[in-house]
Parts: sequence; structure tokens; C-alpha cells
Amino acid sequence: MKSEALRELTLSVCEVAREAGAFIRQERLQFHAERIERKHAHDYVSYVDKQSEQRIVGALRQLLPEAGFITEEGSATYSNEQYCWVVDPLDGTTNFIHHFPPYAVSIALKQGGNILLGVVYEICADECFYAWLGGGSYVNAQPLHVGTSTLSDALLCFQLPYNSEAYSPVAQHLIRLFYGRVASIRMLGSAAIALCYVAAGRLDGYAEKYIGRWDYMAGALIVSEAGGTCTDYDGNADFTEGNSIIATNGIIHQYILNGIFDSFR
Ligand code: IPD
Ligand code: CA
Ligand code: CA
Repeated sequence: MKSEALRELTLSVCEVAREAGAFIRQERLQFHAERIERKHAHDYVSYVDKQSEQRIVGALRQLLPEAGFITEEGSATYSNEQYCWVVDPLDGTTNFIHHFPPYAVSIALKQGGNILLGVVYEICADECFYAWLGGGSYVNAQPLHVGTSTLSDALLCFQLPYNSEAYSPVAQHLIRLFYGRVASIRMLGSAAIALCYVAAGRLDGYAEKYIGRWDYMAGALIVSEAGGTCTDYDGNADFTEGNSIIATNGIIHQYILNGIFDSFR
């Protein structure tokens, strides 16, 4: 796809994400806790996630009929089409349920190993983050650049994925290692937003494992196009089939990677 066509498609996807976000915002006003279902212990889903996904899939089908889908709630399929949409219809469901920002819609388009475009719409602050391959990263039309902090001034984000049994030792190791050595550590409750905040220089580094491709695909391109570095937990730059991501301003990447290597020893 040519760069101008990709830019136009990205801006159309921003509209799709904003429309789904408006639906989610409206539903939050009348949301009832009894409409929550449990996928696994502490992993929740609601009719809002499912209906958001149906709306997004319907709109994306019109934009690019030849593309397949990988979606968190499984309402559409991928069968080796040339293009593939990767969709999280509501990233930060636990935040949404608790009326606790941020939460977002995340949409990426892939072609083989390349992420062609990424859009993350943060509903509470009305911020649309987006990037297309080779075109740079933006939030509400303003260009984005990663920050320049070294480790001692870095603001990091380590999250607590649902797979607590496997990840608890890693999370504890990372906090023990960096607490007191960096500016501070945050947990946001949305992988997609953590990535966008790295792209915007609001965070300097973020790492999480046991997440889905829909959690990181759009945000990872937004980080790369803002000048940041993304790898998986083994340090591989080709992370798009895996379940882990480290995204940083580049300057502090190796420190986080070393910390993760240590925690698995
Ligand atoms: C989750 C959020 C959370 C992360 C989890 C994800 P969901 O996505 O991104 O921040 O820690 O690993 O699964 O379930 O809210 O779409
Ligand atoms: Ca998610
Ligand atoms: Ca989700």
C-alpha cells in the first residue's frame, strides 16, 4: 500500500475508533456491574466489549473488504488473507468496570510481519494516538516523540497481566530492581495506553508479558514511529507473533531487558 493511501486509511480508522469510543463512553453512563462476565479469574468481559467489537469489525470490513481479523472477543476470523486487522475493542476492561481511566480502543493493520498502521483511542481523555508505517506518530494531529530520560530520571510502567502465577516473580523482581533507581514506577491497566504514553514521552519504558497481540500491535507501531524501541522479552525486534513486549525511549532499553533476563534466571 502506498504511503498516501496508508495515511488516508489510518485517518479513516481513527474515525472508526472514535465512534466505538463514543459508544463505550455512553454505555459507561449506564453500566451495571451485573452485566460483567468472567473469562478466567480476574479476567472480565462485558456486553460493551462485545458490541464495541461488532461495531469495529463491521466498519473495518467496509474499509478493506479483503482483510481478515484477529480480535480479542473472537467475533471475526483470519484465514491467511494478505491483510489482517488486529483489534482490541476495549483495552482496560477492569479500569472501565471500575470507572477508572485510562481505557481505549486499539486497532492495527498487519501485512505479514509488518504493522502497517496503528490507532489507539483513549476514551476518557479523548486522545486519538495513531501512526502509519514510515509516516510518524501523532496524537490528535500533533506529532509524537519518545522522551530522552536516562535511567535515573525515567518513569517506568510495569503491569500485572492476568497470568499471575507465572508472572508474579518477574513483576516482583522488576519492582525490586528499579524501585528507588528511577523517577518512579506506574501501573496503568491498559497495555495499549502504556505504549502510547512511551511514544508521547510521558513514560520512558514499559514491559509486560502474557498479553495478546491485540494488546500491543497498534501501540508498538506508535512507539516505533515516535522514535522508540520495541522488542520482546528475549530482545527480538520481531515481536509480532509473541506474547511479550518491552517498549522504551531506546536509551534505557538494555537496562529493562537485563532486568528481565535476571528475573528468569
Ligand atoms: C488487559 C490490559 C491490562 C494488561 C492485561 C491485558 P483487557 O487487556 O491491557 O493492562 O495488564 O494483560 O490483558 O483485558 O483490559 O483488554
Ligand atoms: Ca487488552
Ligand atoms: Ca479487551
